[in-house]
Amino acid sequence: MSEKYGKLQQQFLCCYPVNKMAWSTVKLPLSWEEQQELMAATCGHPLNRRYPVRRSYLEAFLKQLMHLLKDQEDVHDDVYSNLCVRMGEGPGSGTSYAYKHYLMGPGAHITLRESNSFVSEGTTGLCTWEAALALADYVLQHPDLVRGKNVVELGAGAGLLGILLKLPALELKVGQVLLTDGSEPCVQLMRENIALNFNDKELAQEQEQEEEQQEVEKPQAEQLDWDSVSEFPWKCHAETDLLLAADVIYDDSQFDALLGALDYFYTRRGGQLETLLASTVRNVDTLHKFMAQLGIHGYKVTPCANVSACASHFCRDHTAAVQIISIRR
Ligand SMILES: C[S@@+](CC[C@H](N)C(=O)[O-])C[C@H]1O[C@@H](n2cnc3c(N)ncnc32)[C@H](O)[C@@H]1O
Repeated sequence: MSEKYGKLQQQFLCCYPVNKMAWSTVKLPLSWEEQQELMAATCGHPLNRRYPVRRSYLEAFLKQLMHLLKDQEDVHDDVYSNLCVRMGEGPGSGTSYAYKHYLMGPGAHITLRESNSFVSEGTTGLCTWEAALALADYVLQHPDLVRGKNVVELGAGAGLLGILLKLPALELKVGQVLLTDGSEPCVQLMRENIALNFNDKELAQEQEQEEEQQEVEKPQAEQLDWDSVSEFPWKCHAETDLLLAADVIYDDSQFDALLGALDYFYTRRGGQLETLLASTVRNVDTLHKFMAQLGIHGYKVTPCANVSACASHFCRDHTAAVQIISIRR
């Protein structure tokens, strides 16, 4: 990680909104070397060279940088060349997928291929949502919640949370991790993202994992619609100790299916199961409706920490509050 431009680097690589980036860390005027260092930390970063961020994002970033440097006589060639050359080669606005890199600390990062649209191929799950980042943060701050547990994630989308649980650099010591989603394109994308983070030798080296990487148990990804949870071949998987779900409470037409799935798990595991559910507070009524349903189904709900107040491992803009609850029965 760049010492001087670490925050900008982290933000650039995960496509944090350009207008909210830590531009105050750029002390003007920038010397030739400082411009070079800034470009190497962002556009020239090896992760971005190998798996580029969205071209429209790169363009917006470089335009903002040029604007910042507008009063300087010397603008480094790297800025111009990136603007001219990279814009011609990265994924364009017509391309529906690009990469994001989530840096979590020295040697720990996740690279995900994600859709450039919030909704595509009939699902909202092909990109990472704020609630998944918040729940990932919460887990990183409370690693005891996951240590030694066999985890199933419901509605896992692009796969960030489950991949994080098994990332060797984080040493979370989680048991088996099964990522599930009802959408087939999501499952395909999760599998691709698992391979990207656990099989790609160059990325593994970036994560300082080298040879022992081969030994790492990876998360698995399977299609699971909440409506057909009882038909899933559970006997091929370890008993579930912990359910995770992020941003799955937005459509009340799915509540019965989700509650049915929870009932199935809790009946199998009795008191041995906890669920951590993270929800972005968009519509308070929708959330209340789901909470009321949980009560009717005999669940005990405990609110977890105020996540927006937590120190974040991720670049989250905290504009939307995220509520995390623990569910037991
Ligand atoms: C808003 S996305 C959240 C994805 C991911 N958890 C995140 O926070 O980035 C909701 C996810 O729930 C999945 N989903 C919605 N209804 C479902 C159902 N009935 N069964 C299984 N998955 C479902 C969608 O396919 C989608 O991937």
